[in-house]
Amino acid sequence: MSTVEKILLEFEPETRNLLPVLKRISAAFGYVSQKDAQKAAKYFDLPLSRVYETVSFYDLINIKKQPELTIEVCSGTNCAVNGSFEIIREIENLFHVKAGDENNPRIKLEIISCLGQCGEGPVVVVNGKVYTKVTVSGVHGILKEWV
Ligand code: FES
Repeated sequence: MSTVEKILLEFEPETRNLLPVLKRISAAFGYVSQKDAQKAAKYFDLPLSRVYETVSFYDLINIKKQPELTIEVCSGTNCAVNGSFEIIREIENLFHVKAGDENNPRIKLEIISCLGQCGEGPVVVVNGKVYTKVTVSGVHGILKEWV
């Protein structure tokens, strides 16, 4: 029995359980694959479109396999004034990626808006871990922790 089948059997096949099941699958694998979405649709006796509708409504559930490393750099005014775009260029050069490119299976570099930690900027978030007062030279040390 697969992990997804075990997750499904933890819940009664009632529509109200669709969201918790999708969250559990996403937590287990990092995303809900097409195959797993089909299994959920069959289990709940729902059209596949309903499963995708639920998945796409919630930001915490991914439908695409996520890259190993997600780097977010704040581009809010305070962070920008203190060098966030220089940090973005440094990361692009370091990993040969472009900010906003969704097709790199290993690394996703995103420019995000203010995180509300303006006095601590530039702010960089790596796989959910927040780093503050980041510098161009300091970002190398941060990223070495992750690669
Ligand atoms: S401007 Fe970067 S946290 Fe507010």
